[in-house]
Amino acid sequence: MIEHQEGKANFRANLSGKDKGPGKIKGVFYNPSMKFSRDLNVEFAKKLDFGGLFLDGMAASGIRGIRLALECNFNVEFCDTSKLAIDAIKDNLILNNLKSQVFHADVQDIVKQRKYDWIDIDPFGTPAPYLDAVIENIKDGGILGVAATDTAVLCGAKPSICFKRYGSYSMKRVAAKEVGIRILLGRIQTLARKHDKSIEPLLSYSEGHHLRVFLKIIEKKDISLKWLNYEMEVLNTESTDSAGPLWMEKIIQLNLVPENCDGRLGKFFDILRKEADGPPGLFDINDMARDAEIGQTPKKLKIIECIMNEGFFASGSVFSPLGIKTNAPHDVRIKATKFAQSL
Ligand SMILES: C[S@@+](CC[C@H](N)C(=O)[O-])C[C@H]1O[C@@H](n2cnc3c(N)ncnc32)[C@H](O)[C@@H]1O
Repeated sequence: MIEHQEGKANFRANLSGKDKGPGKIKGVFYNPSMKFSRDLNVEFAKKLDFGGLFLDGMAASGIRGIRLALECNFNVEFCDTSKLAIDAIKDNLILNNLKSQVFHADVQDIVKQRKYDWIDIDPFGTPAPYLDAVIENIKDGGILGVAATDTAVLCGAKPSICFKRYGSYSMKRVAAKEVGIRILLGRIQTLARKHDKSIEPLLSYSEGHHLRVFLKIIEKKDISLKWLNYEMEVLNTESTDSAGPLWMEKIIQLNLVPENCDGRLGKFFDILRKEADGPPGLFDINDMARDAEIGQTPKKLKIIECIMNEGFFASGSVFSPLGIKTNAPHDVRIKATKFAQSL
């Protein structure tokens, strides 16, 4: 195992990620390209001022939980089914002068035995099999962090598997990833409801090959899942060419998006902040230019500015570099796109 440094942590793990994907390595998984996700987790955790017990439920090297302990003063416990991972976590705790409980177990069993205020589920691929046990057993008011890397399934490439796995139909094209998030949240809400609970999403995003949601488990609320069509219209019932059932309420809470961060993370949070209060779905700027019958697609920021000047909501989105989130009707979108080209 190689020694690495990330945030305030020093630790040992086998490298994974590009060309060394999860299926190809033996040993303990550490994917440096997921540093962004952990940096984001740390900044988000600071924003919440959390004081409870956190479970790094699929910990691998333990890097996520170790960073939360070092950088946010979290009280963290660790769990993994891999014996190699457990040994690595124990070594890495010593390396970072931390003491903690480490469980060589299935996260679904640990959550039945111990009560947590925040549980993180970070599997290889789909989180679907683990959701029910975690939702049933987390403390009331607890926070759940869930990552999904079955992105192709959630985002339109394998609709029948998506339906089988999550009970929803996905969407292709520019809104695919946002819809993927809404499918995941819809599934979590359906399971929460089964246990007389509900969810309140705190922060949701996609980055690279993964989707991630942070949400609170709250008391049961009557919230209906809905459908979204390719015109980005919200429908109460299924119709042809619609994705759903989906979580159609808020997916990002504006006041929980971290501020004053530098670099790529700071820019990412700026986009999340701008889109937080927007309507569901995204329009593709190239489609907008085609509908406006103009040759070249204007710059996205110019189109956004022109839509806002017409008095409507408009923003970019972390879910697609080509997407605009807006409540402007078709004619306003066309007018704004034409005007943007003339600027
Ligand atoms: C993607 S890695 C986790 C990465 C880690 N959270 C990080 O940030 O580097 C997934 C880990 O989940 C573990 N795992 C798989 N199924 C599990 C289960 N049912 N319960 C607990 N751990 C599990 C694997 O052994 C692996 O170490």
